[in-house]
Amino acid sequence: MKRILFVDDEPMVLTGLRRMLRGLRNEWDMTFLPSGEAALGELEDSPCDVIVSDMRMPGMDGVQLLTKIKKSHPNTVRIALSGHADMEMVLECIGATHQYLAKPCDAETVKATIDRACTLRDLLNDETLQSLVTEMGSLPSLPTLYTEVMEAVRDEKPLTDIGEIIGKDVAMTAKVLKVVNSAFFGLSRHVESPAQAAAILGIDAVRSLVLSAKVFSSVDTGAALDIEQLWDHSARVAALAKALAKDNGQPRKIIDYSQMAGMLHDIGRLVLASQFDDKYAQVLQLEKDSGRPNWECENEVFGQTHNEVGAYLLGLWGLPNPIVEAAAFHHAPARGAGETFSPLTAVYLANELSHAVRARTGLEDTSFDTEYLERVGLKPCQRWFDQAQEIMG
Ligand SMILES: [Fe+2]
Ligand SMILES: [Fe+2]
Repeated sequence: MKRILFVDDEPMVLTGLRRMLRGLRNEWDMTFLPSGEAALGELEDSPCDVIVSDMRMPGMDGVQLLTKIKKSHPNTVRIALSGHADMEMVLECIGATHQYLAKPCDAETVKATIDRACTLRDLLNDETLQSLVTEMGSLPSLPTLYTEVMEAVRDEKPLTDIGEIIGKDVAMTAKVLKVVNSAFFGLSRHVESPAQAAAILGIDAVRSLVLSAKVFSSVDTGAALDIEQLWDHSARVAALAKALAKDNGQPRKIIDYSQMAGMLHDIGRLVLASQFDDKYAQVLQLEKDSGRPNWECENEVFGQTHNEVGAYLLGLWGLPNPIVEAAAFHHAPARGAGETFSPLTAVYLANELSHAVRARTGLEDTSFDTEYLERVGLKPCQRWFDQAQEIMG
């Protein structure tokens, strides 16, 4: 049985949670606590699977509590519960939380959020994955430039300041502007500076571009993998994922996450190719000879795929769970725990469509996981292909 701690200084909130989640008491072992100090004491006695904590509390606040738990109990899933929508941004850049729950929330949302977070944790705790990661020298670290941008966003600095931070890295800026100004991004005017890009595209789009541009240029994958091609693929999948989420009427946050996740979905390929040059050449050869999808070939050579490896890295960096989930399951979305449209859905579709357009297959010949699509309430349609055509060119 999963053991879950709920922490809130307001007795009313705890009573409400207890009442609301009563139906789940046969599935979860739940403890309700009034403070961070009480939670740490409880954890000393016995660890828990998940902690859901209020953010604003007297004494130790939520960020302090979750940061402590991140260090002392790294396997505990950390979920922030807060009434302040703007907290989300703050929490992400600290990386102390896996997921965010907005107050007030219903039992179904709490259950879905906790289930998804646990599915992901179990995937990343897999033994072969752990030993593969241990075999690697060092994983790329979260670029300091990205952290600087996130801090500027948190401090509500003006876009010009954020533009200046990005602009200091000339090579990366050039890379970002090249993508932003490419036809598939669909902007009607030429973007000259990072600040202008942030003003037009939104800060979320720009920060994901900065993050991926930085990682793509700092990693050496040897001769095996064509980095430029992968970067181009990622940028197109990002643009298409964003368009599909928008077309589906999703809220702004999901649209932005879809784009970010699209940019980062294949990052595991970079990691594998840079860490295991020769073995990755084997993967590419196998792919060429057999015509099988790349993740199948990776699985044969490594016993793992770029999905898990990428998700592992993104999780390590403290990126939000919906983005980690999209990387983890973009080739097998049904393994994710979601029941509704999510960034995973957008990236799965965008990636499939990008390959379909390249192979010139149409609606009839493309094999989607229709069971999964049905689960999230979708049906393959021609409009997706038209959008893909436009973006893939
Ligand atoms: Fe992939
Ligand atoms: Fe891909």
